[in-house]
Amino acid sequence: MKKILVTRRLLQSNEDRLKELYEVKLNSNDELYSQKKLVELSEGCDGILSALTDKLDKETINKLPDSVKILSNFAVGFGNIDLDTAKKRNIIVTNTPEVLTDATAEIGILLILGACRRASEGIEGARLSNWKWSADYLIGKQLTGSRLGILGMGRIGKKIAKIAKSLGMIIHYHNRSKLTQDQEDGAIYHKDLKSLMNVSDVLSICCPASKETINMINKDTLECLPKGAVVTNVARGDIVDDEALIDALNRRKIYAVGLDVYKGEPNLNPGYLKHKSAFILPHLGSATKETRTAMANLAIENLEEFFKTGACKNKVN
Ligand code: GLV
Repeated sequence: MKKILVTRRLLQSNEDRLKELYEVKLNSNDELYSQKKLVELSEGCDGILSALTDKLDKETINKLPDSVKILSNFAVGFGNIDLDTAKKRNIIVTNTPEVLTDATAEIGILLILGACRRASEGIEGARLSNWKWSADYLIGKQLTGSRLGILGMGRIGKKIAKIAKSLGMIIHYHNRSKLTQDQEDGAIYHKDLKSLMNVSDVLSICCPASKETINMINKDTLECLPKGAVVTNVARGDIVDDEALIDALNRRKIYAVGLDVYKGEPNLNPGYLKHKSAFILPHLGSATKETRTAMANLAIENLEEFFKTGACKNKVN
């Protein structure tokens, strides 16, 4: 029986399935393992079912025992893993695409609505009962007729576009390559990021974090947005230069932000907390029972496929 280290606690049904299939080292206290502890615990294991909170950098991967052949990441993103080092060590890395598209797109839409319609201020007012209806109380930005710029029109971007279109938004997008007309479904392509920023009343960041996209949203690119634009991020914090975005909020160049992801999670830049117009969530993108169950099942299927065939369709390195 193969031996698997599972670095974070999963939902009960997923842990039960893992116990049937493997000799598993579970993390019943859901402790956040240090890199040192993760390496120690992986001793004698054939694979690791990891989470986005595990920093599997070059140094950590180089210390893993030779027995470890697969890192099955419980996430669609894999910016927490040094893919090149894993490849050099002959360790395959897999992810969990598709199953979390809908749940993450729902949060992407929530960020847009929350930021545009001043949900943070509204929730505070309602909780404190210190509000009074008036014709101009918490007037926000209406989505109908405004332009949504999608940075990264992959699965999640496309689903956000579909919902936003039904709300009456006009969709623009930037990708490395133009989609087919069918896939575009009426969205307008921008070859250049700045060109997308120029027309984005609302920006939705949906692209993966990579060497190319780190700090892609910075002082220079933010300046291209129309005054009073809204910036939302459902992808990864690393794509945004926080200081530049906070400065743009301070200057009212940016009207509001909607954020679910941050650099250095679980911490976030305290500059955001000063802004009532910041609608912020704690990385909830895939957090529904259906989706988390499906993600863990897929992470398990990735292990199964690899141990049976030596390959995996969700391999990313
Ligand atoms: C969530 O952020 C994921 O990458 O799965």
